[in-house]
Amino acid sequence: VRGNGVLLEWALENLVKNGLDALAGTGGSIRVSAQRESERRVAIQVEDDGPGVAPAVRTTLFDPGVTTKKGGWGVGLSLARRIVEDVHHGRLSLAPSEKGATFVVELPIADGAA
Ligand SMILES: Nc1ncnc2c1ncn2[C@@H]1O[C@H](COP(=O)(O)OP(=O)(O)OP(=O)(O)O)[C@@H](O)[C@H]1O
Ligand SMILES: [Mg+2]
Repeated sequence: VRGNGVLLEWALENLVKNGLDALAGTGGSIRVSAQRESERRVAIQVEDDGPGVAPAVRTTLFDPGVTTKKGGWGVGLSLARRIVEDVHHGRLSLAPSEKGATFVVELPIADGAA
């Protein structure tokens, strides 16, 4: 990870926060997992078993200002994507899932990292 990783932490936190919003007292759960995808790549999944992403925003949810929440700003995912992609040269995407929502952060392993 470049720098001290505080922006990346913020991005992950935002994915979890979105998951909590989606679950909103339904008693569902959020799971965060990570695994090495390849020699040079790790993947982190943040998944919840809430209602899933509304069809109306499925293709635009990473655009700034897109929100389905009352009082939402729609900035979380657009900033998170910029942090993951521009700062860390990774990828942030919505993975296809049968139930709920799964976001995947893929990151290159830095040169010289263990
Ligand atoms: N885990 C999720 N489950 C279902 N829908 C989601 C999930 N995460 C994001 N979304 C959808 O994507 C939209 C955009 O998310 P984003 O984080 O960018 O903005 P927001 O959460 O609405 O507002 P903000 O993050 O600015 O407070 C959300 O309004 C919601 O419709
Ligand atoms: Mg958000």
